[in-house]
Amino acid sequence: ARLVVLVSGAGTNLQALLDACADPAYGARVVAVGADRDDIEGLERAERAGVPTFVKKVGQFSSRDHWDRALADTVAGFDPDLVVLAGFMKLVGEEFLGRFGGSVVNTHPALSPSFPGMHGPGDALEYGVKVTGCTLFVVDAGVDTGPILAQSVVAVEDDDTVEALHERIKVAERAMLVDTVGRMAREGFVVDGRRVRFGRTSS
Ligand code: GRF
Repeated sequence: ARLVVLVSGAGTNLQALLDACADPAYGARVVAVGADRDDIEGLERAERAGVPTFVKKVGQFSSRDHWDRALADTVAGFDPDLVVLAGFMKLVGEEFLGRFGGSVVNTHPALSPSFPGMHGPGDALEYGVKVTGCTLFVVDAGVDTGPILAQSVVAVEDDDTVEALHERIKVAERAMLVDTVGRMAREGFVVDGRRVRFGRTSS
């Protein structure tokens, strides 16, 4: 399967996918990496792996919709089977979802439906939950609201800082992402309402 991965930062989730794809049995290949900003480590990781990269900054476009369309056009050019938002800090819009909807997955560092948005680990710490974790879901028009593919639980320690907790979540997140994307690539998946089933038929 052809993966296009979108990043906005360190790209450790991307790196986990790049490493997994090195095994031909994994069943997927990262064909391009896109970002909404320059000089981030995620782009350097792609370049080191010899993967084509592109940057689409919202500010370069006259409107958010124009950005969304330009992003969709560039991604479409790589003919992806799956688009993976791995630490991508922008919401893709109607045009993008219209083109790839159902084949866009996103990883979120909290147990959905708890703590959606930009500060999942901090919100979990603030709330005082004893367990949190990460969620891989199929992107829909909401914020972190799509049908859930996989989740992984991480304990919150008494002395946790947001950074320490997020780093621990990211360990689980990388494993969840690699395992689930690989399964989707090899077996296919079908979204049926809020349910997602692996396999290629909807029977
Ligand atoms: C991940 O935890 C992702 O879920 C969140 O930000 C982090 C990105 O990490 N949105 P990286 O860029 O993959 O290292």
